[in-house]
Amino acid sequence: MRRLLIAGNWKMNMKLDSAKALAQGLKDAAADVSEVDIAVCPPSVYVQPICEILKGSNIGVGAQNAYFEKAGAYTGEIEMAMLTDVGCQYVILGHSERRHILGESSEFINLKVRAALAAGLCPIVCIGELLKEREAGVTSDVNRRQLDGSFSGVSADEMKKCVIAYEPVWAIGTGKVATPEQAQEVHADVRAWLTDRYGADVADVVRIQYGGSVKGGNAKEILSKPDVDGALVGGASLKVDAFMEIINNVR
Ligand code: 13P
Repeated sequence: MRRLLIAGNWKMNMKLDSAKALAQGLKDAAADVSEVDIAVCPPSVYVQPICEILKGSNIGVGAQNAYFEKAGAYTGEIEMAMLTDVGCQYVILGHSERRHILGESSEFINLKVRAALAAGLCPIVCIGELLKEREAGVTSDVNRRQLDGSFSGVSADEMKKCVIAYEPVWAIGTGKVATPEQAQEVHADVRAWLTDRYGADVADVVRIQYGGSVKGGNAKEILSKPDVDGALVGGASLKVDAFMEIINNVR
């Protein structure tokens, strides 16, 4: 039985005071939530103070990116082990904003996925097609190519520790949410990819989150689909009430 994982991707938002207030507000509001896993992913510079606030709570903390190399001369980068050092458990990798704005390839993301696993982090690996790719009927090809590239060389035991987030690029920050049927179709295809490559015992345990304009009002219907195991939430994770509405509607 897969537990739902509801994770907030704060992206590049908020200043320290509001980030801390959001973490404290969620800690209080979610104190009695035991049915689902919860995580928040602040900007890197706030990861450490947010970890301090959420220490011992039922809310995990993730970063939004990190580098694959071990400590050394990599100006501006953050090592995976630095994240675990400050109490971080997750790292989002391959978000479409990094693939498309910063030009990250699946091969580059793969180096980071393997480094995250080696450091004991849970990578939340994002995949998803552009609108023109969906319209061209190549959704499955695009997502499978991103899966092949991002998880190259990842063993079955390692794969069990990963989370996949399907985020159709056309649904991110647009208010255009995939229908529950569209989400389920892709999630089932991702699960089939996992089965082909790793076998049913791995495919059964890997959580596949949906992301893209998830809100309190649409979360329950999407997450009730059999292969949708949680949500990666952008905009609606920036307010205690909006994020709690999602959690409360699916727990
Ligand atoms: P929105 O929920 O704002 O559409 O963002 C989704 C997302 O990109 C989460 O990683």
